[in-house]
Amino acid sequence: METVLSGIRSTGNLHLGNYFGAVRNFVKMQHEYNCYFFIADLHSLTTHPKPENLHDNIRKVLSEYIACGIDPEVATIYIQSDVPEISQLYLLLNMNAYIGELERTTTFKEKIRKQPENVNAGLLTYPVLMCADIIIHNANKVPVGKDQEQNLEMARKFAKRFNHIYNVDYFTLPEPFNFGSDLVKVPGLDGTGKMGKSEGNGIYLIDEPSVIRKKVMRAVTDAGPEQPNSTKPEPVQNLFYLLELMSEPDTVAHFEQAYNDCSIRYGDLKKQLAEDIIQFTTPYRERILEIYNDSEYLSKVVKNGANRARESASKTLREVREIIGYKSF
Ligand code: TYM
Repeated sequence: METVLSGIRSTGNLHLGNYFGAVRNFVKMQHEYNCYFFIADLHSLTTHPKPENLHDNIRKVLSEYIACGIDPEVATIYIQSDVPEISQLYLLLNMNAYIGELERTTTFKEKIRKQPENVNAGLLTYPVLMCADIIIHNANKVPVGKDQEQNLEMARKFAKRFNHIYNVDYFTLPEPFNFGSDLVKVPGLDGTGKMGKSEGNGIYLIDEPSVIRKKVMRAVTDAGPEQPNSTKPEPVQNLFYLLELMSEPDTVAHFEQAYNDCSIRYGDLKKQLAEDIIQFTTPYRERILEIYNDSEYLSKVVKNGANRARESASKTLREVREIIGYKSF
């Protein structure tokens, strides 16, 4: 059976980008594949979370995962730092990852631009840790959004390099996955770019209806089309994209028509979009809160997940050490 793995940083709550880019696919795959889903709490250290927030951030994301339909009885759900074998494999892989290629990664270059005061080595080797996450279970399918495409490419490169250096056919080369379609990129509400935790432009599954209404009503648009059937500028295109994700086809067709004949009122579109998002997120929000407050259940899930993940991870690490040439005395 093929193995599927995906992860999410515990840097903030789950937003619609995380849901449609990654989580929705996990949920669909869990009954057909051998699935591992984890919370990347080591990756989250690159942004220096405060010790008093670290645990709660993990607990939130864990509750959100489960509320979205990932079933701990079916899939293995675990916390990255509970599986020390991942950190050990990361160290071993670092020896064959080169500074030049890491410095050229788009996400690293972006971080230098966005947070020049905190360009740490963890950010530089972020794709190596991500590779360790994936190949420690020899995963071949990785459901992710478009923004992770390059990191996946790097993971393939490092896995292939390991096989080449040691002349083995050990690691499977992981592929980004979205059911045969292009990887998804959910836009933010600020006109350009993707919805993201660090971008501050997201709608979260946990957001209250009033917050969602406020965020959507403030979304960037323009003065409206002047010519019939004109091309939509990016901010407007983004709103339509969200409408396609969240609303009924009839609703989308109605606003498309209004845009094309220049009668569109963005206020109406936003009101409808906000209500459709609220209808979608409300059951999730309620479920998240229920799970978040159930300490006994969460503790069971985490222990069980760590045991299952460590079983697979320790086997890989043992074999990797042998391939590298470590022997016991
Ligand atoms: P993170 O936490 O930023 O995002 C988690 C998942 O959500 C997807 N995503 C999006 N998809 C579409 N549109 C968006 N606007 C959007 N924003 C986020 C991401 O593509 C991702 O799939 N480095 C990863 C976490 C990670 C990981 C891994 C993922 C660590 N190790 C191994 C897969 C495999 C990250 O920071 O994702």
